[in-house]
This record gives sequence, C-alpha cells and structure tokens, in this order.
Amino acid sequence: MQSTCANNPQLSSALGTAEWAVLAGSGDRSFAPFVVTIDAQCDRIVALASVTRDDVVCDLGFGDASFLLNMAAQTGCRCIGCEVNGDLVAAAADRVAGAGEVGSRVALTQELISTFVESAAFLESATVIYVALVPSTMAELEPVLLAALERPGVRVVSQRFEASGLAALLARSIDGGAASPEGSYFSDGGSAFLYERAVAAAAALPLGVPAVPAVAAA
Ligand SMILES: C[S@@+](CC[C@H](N)C(=O)[O-])C[C@H]1O[C@@H](n2cnc3c(N)ncnc32)[C@H](O)[C@@H]1O
Repeated sequence: MQSTCANNPQLSSALGTAEWAVLAGSGDRSFAPFVVTIDAQCDRIVALASVTRDDVVCDLGFGDASFLLNMAAQTGCRCIGCEVNGDLVAAAADRVAGAGEVGSRVALTQELISTFVESAAFLESATVIYVALVPSTMAELEPVLLAALERPGVRVVSQRFEASGLAALLARSIDGGAASPEGSYFSDGGSAFLYERAVAAAAALPLGVPAVPAVAAA
C-alpha cells in the first residue's frame, strides 16, 4: 500500500468534505458528498470502459477506495487517486492495507483534485479517469480531462452526470433509468458516460453501423 499526504499540514488532519470546501474557498456545493459506487456499477464500468490489467485507473475523489479496490481486484490493473476528506483517506488506507497483493497496486494520495491533476502520476500514467462528482466540479475539470484525452488510449468515465464540455467525445453510456425517488444525486447507481477520442476503426465503420452502441445495465 502506498499512501501519501501532500506537504500541506492542513491535509494531515481529518476534516470533513464540507470543511475542506470552506478551506479551499469553494463553498460546499462544489464538493461532491461521499457516496460509494456500488459493486454492480463497478462491474458495468469495467465493461463500459474495457478496463484491463494494462490500465492505470484513476479515481478523482476516491472516497473509501472501494471503487479502486474493485477495479484492481477485477482486472489486475494498477490504481491511483486522490481524496480530500481525511476520515475517508484513513478508512481507504486501512482497506488498501488489508487487501494484500490487490492493495499493493493501489496508490492513494490525500490531496485536492485541482492539485492532483497537475501531478506526474496523473499526467503520465492514468489511462482510465473516473469521476463521481457534482456538475460544478466536473465543469472546472473539463479542460484537464480534455487534455488527458489527447493521450492515446485514455478514457474518461463520469458517473451519474454527463460532462457537457466533453459531449463531442461521448463514446457510450449506461442508462441508469429513472431518477431515484428521493432525488439524491448519487443514489442512482446506473448512469455512467464514457468519453474517448475516436479510434481509426470507428471512423471506418460502414454506414448504418452504430458507432455508439448502448451498453446494457445489468
Ligand atoms: C460521490 S463520492 C465518490 C467516491 C468514490 N469515487 C466512489 O465512487 O465510490 C465523491 C468523493 O469525492 C471527494 N471530493 C469531492 N470534491 C473533491 C475535491 N475537490 N478534491 C478531492 N476530493 C474531493 C469527496 O470527499 C467524496 O469522497
């Protein structure tokens, strides 16, 4: 297990997400609350993004690291990510430490997303970038995601929300069905959107063959 605290003394204390939002001067609403991506949705995302052992999956806001550990266990991939909430980072580090060889392929960093996306780990190694965030954070991230998508093979998966700035690169999506009765942003595990640069093979498809096939929700 690798766990890194940034060289920022504030990040060593266990603060809640809302407190971090205040410290970062962003206000609560730009920070997604912690809601775990359920295992069934992890399965669908492996299929949606064709995740393999050769990938480096990056979760921007990894929560308790459930998603990353699921990816590492299912596919054999390596994983990286950041999380700002100290309580969640501590819980995630425990889970990773207890996951043996699978955990050894998961590197956790306690950091704001805005800082982590400037790191060499993100810029040079991430091949599948996973975001389960609120639309305002997504909007801020879109230039970074567009730049990352310039690298060959990189895919972006957005859970629950479409990234309007990446619309031209939408390759496939999972239909999550109707909104949850309680109206929560994240209780609906079903919707997810895959963005990637078109590959030559897709451009060569004959007319009438859908280049954007739907992926069925399990
Ligand atoms: C909806 S949860 C998703 C958790 C995990 N990715 C999953 O899918 O199971 C969003 C997470 O992002 C974290 N987060 C939100 N804004 C962040 C920011 N600006 N920097 C770092 N982490 C952030 C929250 O603390 C929360 O744990």
